[in-house]
Amino acid sequence: MKTLITGASGLVGSALVAQLRQSGHEVVRLVRRPSAEGDAFAWDPRNGTMDDRAFDGVEGVVHLAGAPIAAQRWTDQVKQEILVSRVQGTRTLAEAVARLPQPPRVLISASGVGFYGSCGDEVVNEERPAGSGFLAEVAQQWEQATVPASAAGIRVVTMRLGVILSPAGGALPRMLLPFRFGAGGPVGSGNQFMSWITLDDVVSSVQAMLEKDALVGPVNMVAPEPVTSREFARTLGRVLHRPSLLPLPSFAIRLLMGEMGEELLLASTRAIPDKLLASGYAFHHPDLVQALGALLDRR
Ligand SMILES: NC(=O)c1ccc[n+]([C@@H]2O[C@H](COP(=O)([O-])OP(=O)(O)OC[C@H]3O[C@@H](n4cnc5c(N)ncnc54)[C@H](OP(=O)(O)O)[C@@H]3O)[C@@H](O)[C@H]2O)c1
Repeated sequence: MKTLITGASGLVGSALVAQLRQSGHEVVRLVRRPSAEGDAFAWDPRNGTMDDRAFDGVEGVVHLAGAPIAAQRWTDQVKQEILVSRVQGTRTLAEAVARLPQPPRVLISASGVGFYGSCGDEVVNEERPAGSGFLAEVAQQWEQATVPASAAGIRVVTMRLGVILSPAGGALPRMLLPFRFGAGGPVGSGNQFMSWITLDDVVSSVQAMLEKDALVGPVNMVAPEPVTSREFARTLGRVLHRPSLLPLPSFAIRLLMGEMGEELLLASTRAIPDKLLASGYAFHHPDLVQALGALLDRR
């Protein structure tokens, strides 16, 4: 199968490209900077331009591109970049595939469990309507931007991703630091739920969604057992053989990170992967003890 990937240089993209190639897929990439590499085609997601040759013979598209969400404090300008890079990029891509005489069979587009906003200890599956807050607004507009593709009859999957765990990047390496210094612990009250998934499971489930037609629409990309921040800290401490009792108080998060800390660290989302499980997907890492043990190689 020939697959086109955007955001291929990122955490998910680089692992996905490697895995698909290893499985015998042909992979081409849409890149924002001109490249002489034969598998790379240029696009400008902001201005809506792209090299249409990228789509030749493509059967599946995986769209991951977007400005980083957790890299810096959310000033108005940073929020605008987070939103516009996703909405414009997705619309550009969805309109481009919809115009093709031979469109791909499937468009798999990233989104996040931030869609649901902060919902305490309520268990949320894909049926739950959107919540409130900046990330919920971004996720709604991001998913909505795929409509030109679904209206053209292309199967569209929007991946509501939880926190992706990998030693290679994203949240986990940042979380490890205080634990290594013996200063790890729960964040805020510790009662807020965190929906997580390992990078291995993201890559494998994307491959399954490319190859099988079982899934369509929003899909919670999270492990079946979300945990509270307190449980997460306890488990990480146990796996690392380090203490995990020192809480990082909510006021410090708000002071240091503002709105970003509020939505990324203090919000509570207890999402479960109803549709993935119903599709028959078997998680490599269904529970956190085993997942962190495997990722940090302390089995
Ligand atoms: N990691 C997580 O825990 C997590 C959780 C929920 C949702 N997600 C979402 O899932 C997607 C993939 O996640 P990831 O962790 O692989 O992200 P990532 O490592 O930040 O990679 C995203 C990629 O998007 C492209 N990009 C960067 N800035 C951009 C901009 N201003 N405009 C357009 N494209 C830009 C870059 O690829 P090129 O340089 O190749 O264009 C970059 O490598 C992202 O959209 C992310 O928001 C991730």
